[in-house]
Amino acid sequence: MNYDIEKLNEFFAEHPDDISITDIDMARIPRHISCIMDGNGRWATSRGLGRGEGHKAGIVALQDVITACVRMGVDVLSAYAFSTENWNRPRAEVDLLMYLFAKTLVDELPLLKRENVRVEFLGDISALPKKTRDVFECGLAETRDHTGMTLALAVNYGGRAEITRAVRHIAEAVSAGDIAVEQIDDALVADHLYTAGLPDPELVIRTSGELRVSNYLLWQIAYSEFYITDTYWPDFDRWGLVRAIASFQGRDRRFGGLSQA
Ligand code: IPE
Ligand code: IPE
Ligand code: MG
Repeated sequence: MNYDIEKLNEFFAEHPDDISITDIDMARIPRHISCIMDGNGRWATSRGLGRGEGHKAGIVALQDVITACVRMGVDVLSAYAFSTENWNRPRAEVDLLMYLFAKTLVDELPLLKRENVRVEFLGDISALPKKTRDVFECGLAETRDHTGMTLALAVNYGGRAEITRAVRHIAEAVSAGDIAVEQIDDALVADHLYTAGLPDPELVIRTSGELRVSNYLLWQIAYSEFYITDTYWPDFDRWGLVRAIASFQGRDRRFGGLSQA
């Protein structure tokens, strides 16, 4: 996707000592970048704050990363916000998260519109509290025609639930006689996932140092490059993203074949 070089340079003008925007090759920006936004709770606890403060700070980090991706001309930014297992957290934390998701989308909608961002959700949003669901439906409707970056927010998302749902839909189509078993291939499965129509993520970033996938995009990450940083999500920002892209651009992606070089 295109980007405005002046806006890019302005956004990334003041940089830390170790990295700058010139350290990455703008011709090889990943089309789809995905973030597992982890470490909000530990960030807060390490400062003597409640976990909720960590989630609020995490939203600020996400805002910076969204704008950075728009400035760099990324096609798709996806972010893991709430897993199917996160319902197991204390009720008060779940309630706060649901409130923050709705409030943030309301607050950020003008910016998303200005930047031509299209919002999508990965996961079963029909199971969310009504207020949150209503705001999400509104965000979807109001950005549906946008042609800029796609922001795919994974909320009530689980990779296994996604695959199970796809299997059910395909089985139903087969038993209704709409498709033949022989027609089931990788592309058809991909078309029945929440990510239908989106490219697979080339780069998956996980913050807070955890070395696991936590039920995220199990199908789509088959050949994704991983970047794991010890930084807690609320401390992650545009520069963390630039470091991740620089690391990505130094990788030798072989896809089971041999090096091109
Ligand atoms: C990520 O931060 C946000 C969500 C999962 C909703 P955590 O809340 O998991 O923070 P830690 O991992 O406990 O530090
Ligand atoms: C993964 O983080 C889910 C999100 C970032 C939304 P978790 O904190 O839920 O993952 P685990 O429990 O450490 O595996
Ligand atoms: Mg966590």
